[in-house]
Amino acid sequence: PAPALTAVVDVDVPGPTISRHVYGHFAEHLGRCIYDGFWVGEDSEIENIGGIRADVVEALRAIAIPNLRWPGGCFADEYHWTDGIGPRRERPRMVNTHWGDVEENNHFGTHEFMALCELLGTEPYISGNVGSGTVKETSDWVEYLTRAGDSPMARLRGENGRQEPWNVTFFGIGNEPWGCGGNLTADQFSTLARQHATYARDHGKDRLYRVAAGGNEADYAWTEVLMKQLASGLGDPAPRDLYQAISFHYYTMSGSWMDKGSATEFTDREYWATMARAHRVGELIAGHAAVMDAYDPTKKVGLALDEWGTCWNVEPGTNPGFLHQQNTLRDALVAAVHFEAFHSHADRLRLANIAQTVNVLQSMVLTDGHRLVLTPTYHAFAMDVGHHDAAHLPVRPVGDVAQREADGRVVPTVTATASTKAGAVTVTAANLDPDAGATVELRLRGHGPLELGQASVLTAGDPREHNTAEEPERVAPVPFEGATWSGSTLRLELPPTSYVSLRLVG
Ligand code: AHR
Repeated sequence: PAPALTAVVDVDVPGPTISRHVYGHFAEHLGRCIYDGFWVGEDSEIENIGGIRADVVEALRAIAIPNLRWPGGCFADEYHWTDGIGPRRERPRMVNTHWGDVEENNHFGTHEFMALCELLGTEPYISGNVGSGTVKETSDWVEYLTRAGDSPMARLRGENGRQEPWNVTFFGIGNEPWGCGGNLTADQFSTLARQHATYARDHGKDRLYRVAAGGNEADYAWTEVLMKQLASGLGDPAPRDLYQAISFHYYTMSGSWMDKGSATEFTDREYWATMARAHRVGELIAGHAAVMDAYDPTKKVGLALDEWGTCWNVEPGTNPGFLHQQNTLRDALVAAVHFEAFHSHADRLRLANIAQTVNVLQSMVLTDGHRLVLTPTYHAFAMDVGHHDAAHLPVRPVGDVAQREADGRVVPTVTATASTKAGAVTVTAANLDPDAGATVELRLRGHGPLELGQASVLTAGDPREHNTAEEPERVAPVPFEGATWSGSTLRLELPPTSYVSLRLVG
């Protein structure tokens, strides 16, 4: 049969850099993500480093997570950071009213989060509280985190055992203000965002990258309101940018918000509906980017998809407020579809955060007592590390790309994306079709001799396959044997429902 995709890749015409930060993660005080996931406490029998699970740290270090968003989500807008500092036993307890109505003892706070970031070698993305917090809280938190020397907040930090300020890369101005973050209109929020962003000051050498909370899915009007706020400053010789990026959120499911579908038991129709929804992410990024282009043609302002991933019905018998779900090969392919879209929009998309790292939504790892399970999504992230901070190489189809109809949309059944860094080329390709293999032919031009380096494939007989504590390696990458050269054309034979990653070296 004809290749599902034949494409040209001009290695000597690199596109924009794919920021490593589009491979960012998210950890909220929600269900078993922080407590039991990241944090077990110093007295736990589970091996820990100052209370932080050692096995989770080890697993996440291996996928080089570039940034971690915390403490929410919806939780961020009811979090008052001063509750989470000082001696743990003296910290006030609260109720996590948004997620399960459970007690929050504040044992995991600012110092614990920054220690986690240091252990992971990742950059912090802290979400400020605009919904129920004050501008002073925002101002003080940033000062506490980043100011050196003698100031009220720097002194308080010192009293709590940390003299040196931390480096904070990203600071979120609110979260879903149109919903759990205050039920505000775009105009109301933009006024608040200006205030909070103004007082989230740069201290010393720290330069915050402020992310103003954006709209949901295709709410381009929200993006427009926020862009208008910035537009007057964009052309100034020395603009005082209020915020450096605008976010939006997009989740993938196979059903409706009321009945999202099961994580593991799905029909073929639901499988393809999922892929159709996943593919929509490219259209949404392009939609927000088009609005931004009108106000900011030089692309100074970044777009951040700071919540994305699959959202299924919770696992039977678990707390509905804990958003605990299994993770199958289908989830890994949803991630692959997103990665391809992220690369294609690398000129505007500067940040993305999958929801949510451990035990919640589309996680990297699931914990079960002492045991830890790596999910198929974890492996997809591992297979993409070569794309971090590499220059995008557009994959330009020649002729038709295999596709099918699903959920009222035309869905390509294969994806391929490429990038280059330090003389090497990384290629990743997915075959979404559970019923047939697919051939991808890439005509690589504009390069010297390239040889196949490391090549791996993530696949399983069925997209419903997943890993459990009893069978942790049902879905795990193995060496890929399906690549051949014909001159400078690279031919890939992709098994049904598979994700392949290759490194080509000069
Ligand atoms: O990721 C779970 C929740 O989904 C977040 O708290 C919220 O921002 C979104 O609605």
